[in-house]
Amino acid sequence: MKYSALKGAQDIYPPDVYIWQTIENAAKEVFSAYGFQEIRAPIIEYTDIFIRSIGETTDIVEKEMYTFSDKAGRSITLRPEGTAPVVRSYVENHLYNLPSPQKFFYSGAMFRYERPQAGRYRQFFQIGAEAFGISEPKIDAEILSMLKLFFERLNIKDLKFEVNSIGCEQCRPAHKNAIRDFFSSKIETLCPDCKRRLDINPLRILDCKVDTCKKLKQGAPRVTDFLCDACRDHFNELLSLLELLKVPHVINPEMVRGLDYYTRTTFEITCKKLGAQNAVAAGGRYDRLVEDFGGPPTPAIGFAMGMERIKALIKSSAKQDIPAPQVFIATIGVPAEKEALLIADRLREKGTWVEVGYAGNSLKSQMRRADRLSAGYVFIIGDDEIKSGKVKWKKLSDSTEGEISFQAVDDFFANEPKETKKKSEQITKKKRKLPSEKHDRYHRWKY
Ligand code: HAM
Repeated sequence: MKYSALKGAQDIYPPDVYIWQTIENAAKEVFSAYGFQEIRAPIIEYTDIFIRSIGETTDIVEKEMYTFSDKAGRSITLRPEGTAPVVRSYVENHLYNLPSPQKFFYSGAMFRYERPQAGRYRQFFQIGAEAFGISEPKIDAEILSMLKLFFERLNIKDLKFEVNSIGCEQCRPAHKNAIRDFFSSKIETLCPDCKRRLDINPLRILDCKVDTCKKLKQGAPRVTDFLCDACRDHFNELLSLLELLKVPHVINPEMVRGLDYYTRTTFEITCKKLGAQNAVAAGGRYDRLVEDFGGPPTPAIGFAMGMERIKALIKSSAKQDIPAPQVFIATIGVPAEKEALLIADRLREKGTWVEVGYAGNSLKSQMRRADRLSAGYVFIIGDDEIKSGKVKWKKLSDSTEGEISFQAVDDFFANEPKETKKKSEQITKKKRKLPSEKHDRYHRWKY
C-alpha cells in the first residue's frame, strides 16, 4: 500500500523549509516594527462565521469550503482564510476593550477546494495582519508601506501594488443597480451562477472566473464612478500618503475582491513572474465586519499573503543560507562513542548544533557525512584520545586542526581556536583537497 498526500496539499521539508522560516522571520520582524502582535485562532470554526463574512454568493463559500458535520451534527469548516476567525476572536474575547488600535498578525494553513495548479493549492499557507479601530487612511498607507518593506527585506522585486476603493454602504447601492442594469441585457450569456447572482449580489459577476462572463464584464460600470464624498476623500488621502511614503502604486478601478466583507480601500500586490496566479498578497478595509459579528462599530483593515507564492519568488531570485551543524563528532570504538555522547550533550545544552556518528560507521564515512552536512568542525575521538584526555579537532572550511582537552571542549565555541599547529598551517596553504583525499589524510592519523 502506497500513501500519498492529498491532491493540492504539499509536504515542506529541508532545505525548502528554510525558505519558509526566512519568510516567517522577516514577517515577524517587519510587522513587529509596526506594532502588530501575534494572534493564533483555531483552524476550524463554525461554518456560519465564513458564510456571514465572506458572503453566501462568493466562490469561496459556494464552491471551495471544506465543510463537514461533527459528531454532534454541527456544521464545521476548515478556515478558507484568516480574517473571519480573527474578527470572531476579537469580538468573542472583547479585545475591543483594550486600548485602540489593536493590531494582529497570524500565519498558518488555509483550505480551499480549488482546482490545483502552479501557485494554487487546496491547503496553502498565509501570513496575514489585521488592524482594528482606525478609520483614517493613514493606517491603509502604513500597511502598504509595511508590505513594501517586507518584500524589500526578502529582496523580492518586480511587484505591482494595485489599489482601489470599492466604496461603502452609502455609495454601493447605486453601483449595484448600475451593474444589474448592465448585465440584465446579457443575462442569457451569463453562467448559471451569475444568472443567480444578478438578483442577489450582482457585484460578484465582476469576480466570476468563467471565460464567457469575464468577456461580458468589459465596459461594466466602475465603482470608482459611484463613490460618495467621504469615500472619495478617503481614497484621495490614501493616494497622497502613498506618494509621501514612496510606495509605488497603480489604481486599478476594475479590481474587485472575491470576498464580500470589503469596504473602501482594497489592494492586491501582483507579480508577473508568478504566471496565472499572480497575486502574492491582497487585502482591504472591512469597516462593518466587527459590528456584523456582534461587536461595537470598529473600522478595520488587513491583508494576507500567500506563502507558497512568496517562496516561489524567493527561490527564483535569491540564494538561501542553509544552516549547518557547528560540529560533527566522529568516533572510533565504544568508549569514544560514549564520551562523544557526553560531550555532545554538554555542548547542546549551550545551544550548539552537534551531530554524532552512528552505528559503527567507519571514520571515513563519518568524515564524509560531516562534509555533506557542511559541519563547521569535526571532533575526532578514538582510544588514543580517551587515553590522552584530548579531542582532535579540525575546521572543515580551512583545514586547520588542533587538540583540546576533554574539560576545555565545553567552551570550545565560546573561545574558537585561533592558534593551530604548524602542520595545519601548511595544509591551509595547499589547494583545497577533494573530499576523498581529505578523508584519506584522516586515515593516516593512526586509524
Ligand atoms: P485572498 O485574496 O483570498 O484574501 O487571499 C490572499 C492571498 O492568499 C492571495 O493573494 C494569494 O497569495 C493567497 N492564496 C489565496 N488562495 C490561494 C490558494 N488556493 N493557493 C495558494 N495561495 C492562495 C484573503 O484571504 C483575505 N482574508 C485577506 C484579508 C485579510 N483581507 C483583509 N484582511
